[in-house]
Amino acid sequence: MRLSKKVVAVAMASMMMVSMTACGNTGSEQTSATPDTKTETTETPAADTADAEQKAEADAADVAETTGEGGMIGVCIYKFDDAFMTTYRNALQEILEGKGYTVTFMDGKNDQAEQNNQINNFIAQGVDALIINPVMTSAADQIIATVKDAGIPTVLINREPTAEQMGVYDKLVYVGCDARQSGTMQGELILDTPNKGDINGDGKISYIMIQGDPENIDAQYRTEFSVKALTDAGMEVVELDLQRGDWDRNKGQEIAQNDLAQFGDEIEVVFCNNDDMAIGALQAIQAAGRTVNEDIYLVGVDALDAALNEVEAGNMTGTVLNDAQGQAEGAVQAMEDLLGGKTFAAGEQSIYVDYVKVTPENVADFK
Ligand code: GAL
Repeated sequence: MRLSKKVVAVAMASMMMVSMTACGNTGSEQTSATPDTKTETTETPAADTADAEQKAEADAADVAETTGEGGMIGVCIYKFDDAFMTTYRNALQEILEGKGYTVTFMDGKNDQAEQNNQINNFIAQGVDALIINPVMTSAADQIIATVKDAGIPTVLINREPTAEQMGVYDKLVYVGCDARQSGTMQGELILDTPNKGDINGDGKISYIMIQGDPENIDAQYRTEFSVKALTDAGMEVVELDLQRGDWDRNKGQEIAQNDLAQFGDEIEVVFCNNDDMAIGALQAIQAAGRTVNEDIYLVGVDALDAALNEVEAGNMTGTVLNDAQGQAEGAVQAMEDLLGGKTFAAGEQSIYVDYVKVTPENVADFK
């Protein structure tokens, strides 16, 4: 059975009503809807239905037929104000809209309570599927319980729960990267330099670590595995400082500035868990009169356009591609598999996209 235009239109009406409320109150939403379908919306919003659970079941039964034909997708992003997640969000939007879905993006504003409300609203609106970038990895249990209760096929992205947490719901998939790989690659970028990161030749690599949000597995693994790559290669390391920069450029700049003032030439390597913080650190490095690849090394992760330019110009030692396009494509593919009725067994719910090392030699391939 194909989902009738009327059902889609009614659901869209409810979506747009909530959209308007949400926009008025918080401005945290971005919706796409084709103008010609708006005119068909004459009935009472289905979101008011008392029995939301029954409705969710009905929707779940219909979703296979809505694939690529105007199905409604709710996307929750942990916060819009994040450089990498903005690239990712744009990729998702282009792919989903290109396939004819009606997509609503919500800005969680780095507030898990706010995101929980957004998820509940999407469920009440009867979306066909959800794509969720959780605010807190620690909220995974609650998020999974909520979408399972409603029977909504869900793809989690960017912040990976444990296999055990995901195992309770077979219409749930995680699409992301294995952050250990990116950490290891950062370490390898340093090992690939002429002096393996030991600029002053004292037999040790002295580094500062500018960490993302430490609650996030990406931050934990990149911090651990970048250094592990060095020690696995037999290098001795000295950690001069480790501070959280919450993925944020300004914080990266501040931390690097303070560390450069405190440790000066002792710093040989600046590890940043992402590029936005590395760009901030670069500003501090240049302001301190230091020169990347001559008297200090600097690496990030993501391959943001700004970082690619700096790698090309020799102002960053390297970065690691965090493949937003590949992950967005993977997330949509997984979502369509779920919509098509596929279920995922416990232990087989994580789909990984590879990271790629970016150096001056291959940077042109990524631009
Ligand atoms: C990471 C990315 C960071 C930040 C973070 C948000 O994968 O490298 O830049 O976007 O996700 O969770």
